[in-house]
Formats: sequence, C-alpha cells, structure tokens
Amino acid sequence: MSTRQDIHAAVQARYARLAEQTMDVIPLQQAESCCGDDTNACCGGYLVDLSEVPDEVAAFSLGCGDPISIAELQPGEIVVDLGSGGGLDAFLAAKRVGDKGLVVGIDMTPQMIERATRSRDKQGITNVDFKLGNIEAIPLPNNVADVIISNCVINLAPDKKAVFAEAFRVLKSGGRFAVADIVTRGELTDAERANMDAWSECMTGAIDVDVYLNQLREVGFVDAQVTHVAEYPMTGGFSAQILSARITARKP
Ligand SMILES: C[S@@+](CC[C@H](N)C(=O)[O-])C[C@H]1O[C@@H](n2cnc3c(N)ncnc32)[C@H](O)[C@@H]1O
Repeated sequence: MSTRQDIHAAVQARYARLAEQTMDVIPLQQAESCCGDDTNACCGGYLVDLSEVPDEVAAFSLGCGDPISIAELQPGEIVVDLGSGGGLDAFLAAKRVGDKGLVVGIDMTPQMIERATRSRDKQGITNVDFKLGNIEAIPLPNNVADVIISNCVINLAPDKKAVFAEAFRVLKSGGRFAVADIVTRGELTDAERANMDAWSECMTGAIDVDVYLNQLREVGFVDAQVTHVAEYPMTGGFSAQILSARITARKP
C-alpha cells in the first residue's frame, strides 16, 4: 500500500516535470492535461473566454473543468485556488475580483509556483499571490476567504477530508466551495489505488462521489452537491466508473 509520502512524491514528480515544459504555446493535446487528450469534451471545458489570458497560459491547462464559472466570483472577493498549477484559474479569477479583490494560489510543487509567479509578473498582475504549500495544511489563517476554487487537484491528495477541513477553516462564514474534480461511482481496488502513475494522472486517487459529499458535510459544509458530471475519458479498465464533476458547498 502506498504511503502519504509515496503519493506526494509521485504527484510532485509529475507536476514538476510538466511545469518545466516550455513556456511557448503548447496545444492542449500535448500539454498532458489532467483530462488526457480531450479536455473540453470530458469536462465540459471552460465556459469563460480563454482569450482573456495569454495563449501560453490558456494552453497550460491541467484541469478537468471550469471552477471560474462555478464560483460566480464578484468584485472585491478573496479567492483561494487549491493546486493552482500554472495559474490559469488564478489569473481568470483575478480579472473577476478586480483590484479590490485578491487571489491566492496554493501548490506543493515548487516548479509550479515558480512558473505561475513568472507568468504573473510577465502579465503585470498585482492581485494574485502564489504560495508553496500542501492543501492538506493550507498556509493561511482562519476565516479569510470568500471562495475556494480548485481544478482537478483534490483527487490527488491522500487525505481528502483534511483538505475539506482546511477549506472550511480558511473560508469566512457564508463562504463558497466551488471546484471541478475527479470522482468515482463505486470503489477502486487497493491494487488500482497502488498505481502511482494513474494516481498522479488524476484517476486512482479519486473517491466515490457520495463519500466525497459526505466528507464535505462531516467537516461542516452545507448544501454540498454535484452540479454536473461527465465521463472521464480512457478510464474504462477500472473497477469503478471515473467521472469529472462540478461540486459546490457552503460554509454556514
Ligand atoms: C492536475 S494539476 C491542476 C493544476 C491547475 N489547477 C490547472 O487546472 O491547470 C494538479 C496541481 O495540484 C498540485 N497538487 C497536487 N496535490 C497537491 C497537494 N496535496 N497540495 C498542494 N498542491 C497539490 C500539483 O502540484 C499540480 O500543480
């Protein structure tokens, strides 16, 4: 059985390698999106217009959905992006919250934080901060965020309930949880879960959707629900169905 450390090491190794890919425009198919070869088809894609950001930022999407549309961000809000990767969602969020708002991206892979920070500075964006850290222990104080967003990351964490508890802790009262993530219908086997390549490609770390929603409720969230699901491509060989989902919840 894989330990927490094994999982973190496998995930970090994959995303460090991807972060070091060229900053030139990479077509989505080659960028090794979390969603494999067909990001838009599997996850509903982005409903927002990606021409808002430079091509090389839009092309470096490793997600499985569109947390920006789910979150319905308002000017002045404070947003925390769990597993911010190259910064695409953080930059889109920054446009929506404006100068009076702030976006904080958290990622445990130093190469991702470096890439996102370079990209932010190149674009001259001043309302985004990137912090190195594990989303199972978010490096932020209590009750600071209006919204938690995340795109295809929580499935990668070995302790999802810790992530939910941390998201609850940093949200203000009334704050929103609005994420795109991978979930299953049914349970994967221990042997499938031990496959660290498939885990770091956002497949075998995923948990059953009802377990996911119950864990959100157990840490205190209300109105936890799945608002959309789609089949995740090329995952037919597993013992559980693997799906991309849009999930929302609220801190009372
Ligand atoms: C599939 S990529 C998604 C990146 C970004 N959200 C996007 O949509 O392009 C997963 C990202 O989450 C980060 N990550 C995975 N597990 C993490 C954890 N436990 N804590 C912090 N970051 C994590 C990885 O380093 C990687 O940058």
